[in-house]
Amino acid sequence: MTKRIHVSTTINGEHADFLCEARQTLLEALRDELHLTGAKEGCGNGNCGACTVMLEGVPVNSCLVLAVEAEGARIETIEGIARDSRLHPVQQCFLEGAALQCGVCTPGYLVAAKALLDKNPNPSEQEIRFQLAGNLCRCTGYDKIVQAVQEAARRLRAGAWDESASPATQEV
Ligand code: FES
Ligand code: FES
Repeated sequence: MTKRIHVSTTINGEHADFLCEARQTLLEALRDELHLTGAKEGCGNGNCGACTVMLEGVPVNSCLVLAVEAEGARIETIEGIARDSRLHPVQQCFLEGAALQCGVCTPGYLVAAKALLDKNPNPSEQEIRFQLAGNLCRCTGYDKIVQAVQEAARRLRAGAWDESASPATQEV
């Protein structure tokens, strides 16, 4: 029987423990052990960004991170972005601006965009495109995505968001 390893971490502001195999990726642990299925497996090898989560505030491809590397770390996933039943401005702007279609890539885009806006509330178009360069979408254009992030940045600067409110849900 394969030995399972205990991992203790923080996910979307809440303590989380899980067991995993040494070879398991963080993406697999999130989806299969913790039932957080918002992060998607597109390519499984670091090319598409569909599996993006934040690890210690930095966006990472969770298909390239081992689950055991989450020990003691702070992880944020798409499930933790909304607050008190309110969509984050970047989610709202994707909806309003029709910046998404099939949704496989969308969670990764949203997490990567939020990571940028957390650090830089007034990114240039070039900075947005640079940040999102690791996220691929094959069914919509990139311009609407960039415009949605620009509009979300504008709303955030106008004070449209309370980051300290409770995460809306842990399940998607
Ligand atoms: S599934 Fe991780 S980068 Fe594509
Ligand atoms: S909407 Fe992104 S791959 Fe389809």
